[in-house]
This record gives sequence, structure tokens and C-alpha cells, in this order.
Amino acid sequence: MSEDPPLSILGVAGSLRQGSFNRALLRAAVDLAPDGVRIEIFDLAAVPLYNADLEAAGDPPGVAAFKQAIRAADGVLLATPEYNHGVPGVMKNAVDWASRPPRDAALGEKPVGVIGASPGMTGSARGQSQLRQAFEFTNSFCMPQPELLVFRAHEKFDDDGRLTDAATREHLARYLTAFAAWIRRFR
Ligand SMILES: Cc1cc2nc3c(=O)[nH]c(=O)nc-3n(C[C@H](O)[C@H](O)[C@H](O)COP(=O)(O)O)c2cc1C
Repeated sequence: MSEDPPLSILGVAGSLRQGSFNRALLRAAVDLAPDGVRIEIFDLAAVPLYNADLEAAGDPPGVAAFKQAIRAADGVLLATPEYNHGVPGVMKNAVDWASRPPRDAALGEKPVGVIGASPGMTGSARGQSQLRQAFEFTNSFCMPQPELLVFRAHEKFDDDGRLTDAATREHLARYLTAFAAWIRRFR
């Protein structure tokens, strides 16, 4: 048993599709989290497109729930796909909502980890890179290393979305241990 106080991590996948590799990666993270670390996955399906008029009328319920879940967590783990060499709109939109209001944002000074999966050879590297840039503006504490780039994702999950590749499971477990240590630096 770990003697450190328990940590809660909010997992967010930047894909809405049922068979998402990135969501499957987060499900594997739930199983592989080290002792004393609990990961809960937040579904972005109820987060609408950012619209300042909606925001002015009060955060829509899906946005309010998202911000609340971020605030309640000790850290946020984002699993992002890569679309056209960048961050998919679903993920960027969620970050945009959670970046507001700028001086009291849910993401402000929040420890953040970025991972991702793609069937291609780069494992969402460019999507991850672009997503990290957003955390400069939100003043989030984005962990620089280690990275987790799950390339050729279709070979690493079974048909039920279980992460079956032993090396990736090991890499993910090491990543989560490092992320827990990163979060504890800011407590
Ligand atoms: C519009 C679009 C653009 C894409 N562009 C890229 C890309 O630039 N690089 C890449 O590795 N995969 C790209 N892909 C493939 C995605 O990586 C793949 O669909 C992946 O499974 C999406 O993540 P998910 O499984 O979590 O939904 C693209 C897919 C779509 C739909």
C-alpha cells in the first residue's frame, strides 16, 4: 500500500466514438493506476461547442459538470487523437471551455498529463504537441516527460477495446506512476 494521500485523476478522451482507442487507453489507465490513485473518465458528449453567448447565460450543464469534475480532481489526464496533424475539435473545444474565466479557470494551475493513440506510426505526436501549447495559456502544469505515444493502435487493443499489448501496458503503468509523482509535487 502507498503511504501517500490518495489522488484522484480525471481522464478525458478527445473522441466521442464508441470504439475510440483513446477512450480505451483511459480504460486501461483505470486498471493500471498505481496504488492510491483513482482515475475517473469524463465523457465529453454533453459539452457543446464553445459559444460566448451560451457562456454569458451561464455554463450549460455539460460544461458546468466538466469544470466541476476538473476542480474536484488532483490532476487531469487527456488522451487525444490526432486529426490533420493537430488536436481534434472535440478536445480543443473542451479545453477552451475549461480555460474560462481566464483568471479563475478550472484548468488554471492544474497538473495535466497528455497521452494519445492513433493507428498511424506517430501515435498522435503532433496532436499531443499542439494540445500542450494550450496549457501555456491556461497556466496548467503540463508534465513534460515521460510521453506516451501509442502508435499502430489497432494492433494494441482487442475487438472489445482492451489494451492487450504487453509493452504498451507496461509503458502506461510507468507513465501513471510518473504522473502521480508529478501531481504530488504541486500538493
Ligand atoms: C478527420 C480525421 C483526420 C485524421 N488525421 C490524422 C492525422 O493527422 N494523424 C493520424 O495519426 N491519424 C489521423 N486520423 C486517424 C485517427 O488517428 C483515427 O481515426 C483514430 O482512431 C482516432 O482516435 P479514436 O480512436 O480515439 O477515435 C484522422 C482521422 C480523422 C477522422
